[in-house]
Amino acid sequence: MIEVGGDGRIWLLSGPTSSYALMLTERDELLHLHWGPRIALADAEALAVQPEPAASGFESPLDGREEYPVEGGPRFVRPALSVRTPEVRGTEWRFAQAVQDDGVLKLGFTDDVHGLRITLRYAMRGDVVERDVELVHEGEGPAVEILRADSAAWTLPERDAWRLTQLHGRWAAESRIEQVPLAYGEHVIGSRRGHTGHQYLPWVALDADGAGEEQGEVYSCALGWSGAWRIAVQKLPRGLVQLTGGTGHDDSGQVLLAPGRSWRTPVFAGLWSDGGFGGASRAWHAYQMEHVIPDADRVRPVLFNSWEATGFDISAPQQLELARRAAEMGVELFVVDDAWFGARVGDRAGLGDWAPNPDRFPGGLKPLADDVHALGMQFGIWVEPEMVNADSDLYRSHPDWVQHHPGRTRTEFRHQLVLNLAREDVQEYLWEQLHTLLSSAPIDYVKWDFNRCFTDAGWPGEAYPQKLWNEHVHAFYRLLDRLRATHPGVAFESCSGGGGRIDLGVLSRTDQVWTSDNTDPLDRLGIQHGFTHVHPARVMAAWVTDSPNVQLNGRVSSLRFRFVSAMAGVLGVGGDLAAWTRQELDEARSWVALYKEIRDTVQLGELHRLRAPRGGLSAVQYVRGDEVVVLAWLQAQRYGEPVARVRLHGIAADASYELLGTDEVHRGSVLLHHGLRTGLKGDFDAGVYRFRRVRP
Ligand code: GLA
Repeated sequence: MIEVGGDGRIWLLSGPTSSYALMLTERDELLHLHWGPRIALADAEALAVQPEPAASGFESPLDGREEYPVEGGPRFVRPALSVRTPEVRGTEWRFAQAVQDDGVLKLGFTDDVHGLRITLRYAMRGDVVERDVELVHEGEGPAVEILRADSAAWTLPERDAWRLTQLHGRWAAESRIEQVPLAYGEHVIGSRRGHTGHQYLPWVALDADGAGEEQGEVYSCALGWSGAWRIAVQKLPRGLVQLTGGTGHDDSGQVLLAPGRSWRTPVFAGLWSDGGFGGASRAWHAYQMEHVIPDADRVRPVLFNSWEATGFDISAPQQLELARRAAEMGVELFVVDDAWFGARVGDRAGLGDWAPNPDRFPGGLKPLADDVHALGMQFGIWVEPEMVNADSDLYRSHPDWVQHHPGRTRTEFRHQLVLNLAREDVQEYLWEQLHTLLSSAPIDYVKWDFNRCFTDAGWPGEAYPQKLWNEHVHAFYRLLDRLRATHPGVAFESCSGGGGRIDLGVLSRTDQVWTSDNTDPLDRLGIQHGFTHVHPARVMAAWVTDSPNVQLNGRVSSLRFRFVSAMAGVLGVGGDLAAWTRQELDEARSWVALYKEIRDTVQLGELHRLRAPRGGLSAVQYVRGDEVVVLAWLQAQRYGEPVARVRLHGIAADASYELLGTDEVHRGSVLLHHGLRTGLKGDFDAGVYRFRRVRP
């Protein structure tokens, strides 16, 4: 809902529990008024006339109060918008118009010197405020160089002190929660790498009053962009806090805007919640399920992936043998990972040549895909389209198609180079290859990988600022969109060496993400704990792999612990089933069957993190209608101490809940206040507890 007051100069956007208000002054300054609990228009109008304390001659009266601080004029904050033409730098705007269109508020400004129209867009989706900015060169003068155009600046209310929460990581250790007091100055996170990166999910949260999992105010913001990005949190000299965020880290996002051209930033979304970090997560999940993730109401199948089982050493008969075992186990989607194409028998060759390896798949992929279908499963494959090995037919034919600088070393990581997707010939090549591939066999699923960062991001012959950084992401998005439109039955997974490309942008065009290459079930609890602060279980792929753990650390864990850990998201199996005993296969089959029973609740329900994984007992709960599922893990029981009870959340105190598989009936108030005895003991124990509300 959008309300307008103050003689058409105050706007109030409201969701179910929150409001966002802004005002335009007589000097056309666009000032922030409110972001927090739901208020009335009269409250926003009262805020608009409150006097501000006078600023000293060394401070700007605008700093920390503007909706979108531009460079130029009386401002010293980090600008959200920085532009220049050969003679004039910065922006001075005049208000042009406010337009409301289907729940979207667009505020237009013009800068006549540059001929630039600047439109700030606001939309309330539930309690999430979506913001972005469009710049149009409407003049006839010189091209405008956009040095930086953030998607939004977010202003927090005045509080004594703020705490910053972020999700940091690295390869095989993504999305781990870190909290620090916010100091004066600027705290910057982001990626200089051309993809979202393993180092941070593009999300931050701020709380001022010690918010906990289920109580307290939390402000959080998430960016929808899968290339280089930056979020900067500033604590200004007077203690005001603002956040800016958008594409590009240093100067990699620069754009040259010729007359007649436009540039639109990605969405930077913001959420206020007073339900603590848990309440904020659930609001983020609800937003993505309703507005971001395609077909979010359809649950994801249980998949098998061959990577940890067979690596680069694959063949059609061997994959079929795995597929038979997977089918017996109840797996619904069989995915052949790397090494099915070109000369890809190791990581040194073949990337770029997306035709099946004739030695390994003499009849192409179709025979195997048909066999997999005959076993009652869907068929999927792995691709890494944006990359090329130097030892490939593609690179031999088009050495100029990779990102590089003339006369400089072409840096290789994992023996591969990055294709310059900003080139139209590269875009067309990839479309042809992938479209042909998806037409050549009944393929239901594509795991789309991206296994190295940009290093030599140059495009010889193109003038600076080169559009390579931004255009790579747009071309990737367009390619995915086109493939999805042409092959509507194919689902896509975003992978980047695990969780290197997870953000609202990629999630709006993929069906799930590969959370991490780390499949150790214990490490995964921490990674998943952080991940669910932003994204829902419905997209969080998790595999059960071998014990001792092959990929990372050799840790030994029970099949039970591995399954319950992976059942917290979209369950997959990635172990070498050829080496599993009959007993293991049988046990696995019963876990898969159990997962299918709880899957709707896990993937589509509300997620409550009951206890964080900190060494002892941790637990996550999912609620959907009358169904409640609790997954609990005991890392280690120490000193013979009794294991803590797990207190449930988000259920009805005055209802009773049947614990399925037992004859126990539990009272809601007891589960909420006293908790459930899990019966877990020792090391690496885990359990699944299914409740159903008893209807009188
Ligand atoms: C990346 C992915 C893995 C696997 C390999 C294949 O590392 O994250 O899951 O697909 O590539 O080379």
